[in-house]
Amino acid sequence: MSALASNAPVAVIGAGAMGAGIAQVAAQAGHPVKLYDNRPGAAVQALAGIDRQLARLVEKGTLQPAERQAISARLCPVESIEALADARLVIEAIVENLQVKQALFSQLEALCAGDCILASNTSSLSITSLAAGLERPQQLVGMHFFNPAPLMALVEVVSGLATAPAVAACIHATAKAWGKQPVHARSTPGFIVNRVARPFYAESLRLLQEGAADCATLDALLREAGGFRMGAFELTDLIGHDVNYAVTCSVFEAFYGDFRFQPSLLQKELVDAGRLGRKTGQGFYSYAEGAGRAQPHELHSPATAEACVVEGHLGVLQPLVERLRASGITVVQRAGSGVIQVGEATLALSDGRLASQRARQDGLRNLVLLDLALDYASATRLAISWSADTSDHARDQAVALLQCAGLRVTPVADLPGLVVLRTVAMLANEAADAVLQGVGSAADIDLAMRAGVNYPCGPLAWAANIGIAQTLRVLDNLQRSYGESRYRPSLLLRRCEAEGGSLHD
Ligand code: NAI
Repeated sequence: MSALASNAPVAVIGAGAMGAGIAQVAAQAGHPVKLYDNRPGAAVQALAGIDRQLARLVEKGTLQPAERQAISARLCPVESIEALADARLVIEAIVENLQVKQALFSQLEALCAGDCILASNTSSLSITSLAAGLERPQQLVGMHFFNPAPLMALVEVVSGLATAPAVAACIHATAKAWGKQPVHARSTPGFIVNRVARPFYAESLRLLQEGAADCATLDALLREAGGFRMGAFELTDLIGHDVNYAVTCSVFEAFYGDFRFQPSLLQKELVDAGRLGRKTGQGFYSYAEGAGRAQPHELHSPATAEACVVEGHLGVLQPLVERLRASGITVVQRAGSGVIQVGEATLALSDGRLASQRARQDGLRNLVLLDLALDYASATRLAISWSADTSDHARDQAVALLQCAGLRVTPVADLPGLVVLRTVAMLANEAADAVLQGVGSAADIDLAMRAGVNYPCGPLAWAANIGIAQTLRVLDNLQRSYGESRYRPSLLLRRCEAEGGSLHD
């Protein structure tokens, strides 16, 4: 199905942050756009805001003055909904309320042509519910932009039970023509991004609650080892805890209380206290004037390292060996079970067991576990944890080795899966379940997480890089450690491992 003609009239309803951004995107793509808001004067005000944005682009040299004029001329504020009757596509971005949106769509369907596409920018309401009761539910589709709409590439094209495939295909092609990266999603709670991203916040909150490390340390690990733009605490402080907590609660309730989505008491406490993040001056961090920035913990070893022994194949950890060699460490390779020996210490990538448990079960002395890094060749920080019977001397030897490779070494308490590994395993698990349940394709889900929330790698591609078997082992061990269904591995991961198949088939 082809995109809407670029001169087809588009209507946007709701002139708030999202509606204004969407109107700008559509006008930039060449459409005549009418913007309507039931608050008198709001549409005019929003267009003035868009004009300021466009002026900034001209100043930066990314937009020609003539083009700015042409875009502004295509944008028209209207003060009555009847003025939208000629639209080929109406996108609503009004208040997030099912009844109010349903009433609006009924009104629009009576007003607009039978083949006009009605789209909702809702981030949490069911497209199926929004369409229920309409004469032409097949014409309604979700067109979920991310904030700020002119800058964020992702658009989730969400199909409800009745959405016509041709309507979803047209919106997908239209979003692409508007310079966006659209993905198809089935209308299920949280669609793709707001569902698959839950563990990113949840695992950090859980690690904090269980005393793994402080906020600054956990955030630094997700950034500097995981390659995420922000850690979970600085990000939720930015989003606002009221907003982030409400999304978690709505997904949790929508999944009938599935513990995988269980909200955090720590975050609820912040909401209850009115510590909503940057906007109130206090969240996990203080934004008061003069408040210093907390520094992540780091170990400094008095020891030095000159050589190590690599036993067996290290899998995803292998680039670390090249990095050690490049730093002048002599690396001796011999057969074994995938560990690094330095002095008295044994280093291994976590498999989701506690260090103390693994040391005892596998008979490993002075065990130091390593966390996952997005890219061991370039990571600047890495978390370690160690077994209760690991000596200080052996731990220092392990730290010295990693320091020689230029890594900042950050200690975390002995919890299963450390920080980045556990977060990525849970993101991949959620992504796999979304694929299994037909919410979206593996390629679309990976794309959505990169384009919608700037993840450095799609969770499924990341799991494939870690190895499906290793990812599954981590989840199985997390589930065994906690005894909670929260960590149960997706059947898709188990099936891929059993069949030796790929998640992207
Ligand atoms: P907002 O509160 O900034 O703007 C909503 C606008 O809609 C207001 O100007 C209000 O006067 C107008 N409005 C309310 N009821 C109306 C009605 N019946 N008819 C006409 N206009 C009406 O809200 P925001 O943040 O722009 O969100 C709008 C929608 O976009 C919501 O459905 C929200 O879930 C969704 N969304 C929001 C994102 C965000 O980050 N803010 C991201 C993606 C989706």
